[in-house]
Formats: sequence, C-alpha cells, structure tokens
Amino acid sequence: MTVSANKVLGPSSFARMKKKEQKITMITAYDYPGAKSVSQTGVEIILVGDSLGNVILGYDGTIGVTMDDMVVHSAAVRRGAPYKYVITDMPYMSYHISMEETKRNAARLVLEGKANAVKLEGGSQSRIDAIREIVDIEIPVCGHLGLTPQSVLRFGGYKVQGKGESAAEILEREALAVQEAGAFMLVLEAIPEELAKKVTRMLDIPTIGIGAGRYCDGQVLVYHDMLGHSNMKPKFVKQYANLDEIIVQGISDFDREVKDGTFPSEEYIYYPTGE
Ligand code: KIV
Repeated sequence: MTVSANKVLGPSSFARMKKKEQKITMITAYDYPGAKSVSQTGVEIILVGDSLGNVILGYDGTIGVTMDDMVVHSAAVRRGAPYKYVITDMPYMSYHISMEETKRNAARLVLEGKANAVKLEGGSQSRIDAIREIVDIEIPVCGHLGLTPQSVLRFGGYKVQGKGESAAEILEREALAVQEAGAFMLVLEAIPEELAKKVTRMLDIPTIGIGAGRYCDGQVLVYHDMLGHSNMKPKFVKQYANLDEIIVQGISDFDREVKDGTFPSEEYIYYPTGE
C-alpha cells in the first residue's frame, strides 16, 4: 500500500485510533533504505530502537548502544521517511544519571536525530520522574514495560515478565504511573496476553505489543527479525520474508559471474563517448 506523503500523524491521532479500535502498526528501522521502505507502507510509526545493538552492530543486547549511535541512526531514518512518526529510543544510561542529562539527551534525539518522540524503559519512580520531566520540556514520551531489554542484567536473561499475581499487579501500577506522568503511548513486551489485555483496557493511551498477545492497541516487530535478516527468532516473531536467503543468493550469483567472466557483460561497460 502506498500512503499519501503528507498525512503526518501524531499522539492525538494515535489516541483517536485507540478510541475507534483501529490497530496501530509500528516497525523498527535504523537506516535510510529501511526507513524508505517503511515510508511506502501504511505503517504508522517507525521506532528507531536500541535493538540497533543486536541487529545492526552485532552486540548481544542493547547495552553498549550510545547516544551518538542513536542520533546518527535516527537522523538517517528521518531522511528516509520524512513524513512518518518517528520514535527514537533513549539508550541505556542516557536517562539514569541526572535529570539535566536526561533532558539534554532527549532533546538531542529530537534536535539532531529529528525524532518526533522518545521512548524509555521502566516504571520505577526515577523512570516516572524522567517521563514527567521530558514531557515538561515538550517532548512526547512513549513508555516501555515488561521485558525491558536494558534491564537484562537484573532480569538474568530475556524472560517473559508479569507472570504471577504480584508481578502483574506491579506492572499494572507502573502502566498507570507511566500514563499519569504524561506518556502518550506504552510498549508492552513479552508479557502474558491476559495481562496486556487488562492493561490495554485500563489505559486511555494506546498500548503497542511485542510478544504481548492479540489485545494491544497496536503491534511492533523488529525489522530484521520479521524480514528474516537477523539471528533472532523469539516465539512472538512472525517472519514475513526471508531477506537472508535473497541476499546470500544475490551475492553468490555476483561472485560466480565475476569468476566465470559473465559479469560485467557489454551492457555494463562504457564506450569512448562516455555512453
Ligand atoms: O529496541 C527495540 O527495538 C524495542 C522494541 C523491541 C519495542 O524497544
């Protein structure tokens, strides 16, 4: 589907979509060509995720991704998708030390990274304060609860969160606090479907699920996972294409044709006229 380039959406459009029970689609992107592809679809939101660490930089997680990484990739995404709503992740340790640094970093993602909004993980009091302060400097914030990858060291691995009554109650309380602090959207990652359904019904702001079942107001997947171009295959990922296969085939064909002299054939050479 090709979408009209000048229909720019924003937080109030997403709130309206929730009210009308219209599903919201979000996908990650990290570079110009990826964003350009997404810009030709009906997907409403691009998330410049710090999953950049996993799928672009080859780290084994998101820890280690820097503000400079996020700024460079966010700006590249904006160049590829000038009219999409872009949310950029605040990386680990960019909102953990002081409020001044937190606000400066959020502002960098908007001013240099050209993001429309920022996302940060967690629901502890200091994260809620960070959301409130960033919203107060006029930057829209998307929250993120459940399996928050920046907490992997504390979680002891990538494990489903919100299991059991007390964990579910904590997550519900945190979701309300995220909303109350002024976030316009909440990502719910790797939690039981029933819990995501309850949180979605409880909140006025839209929830976007990843491994959170069918009842969220929208869904997000990581570009490289859903297109078969990463090493990750969690249970919640549906693979819609196999880019790895296509790319390896193309490179192998090039290699073979160089070696057997088929490439470059006449159509790929210049004549003395310059043509
Ligand atoms: O970094 C990321 O890609 C994310 C999504 C998994 C929601 O935060």
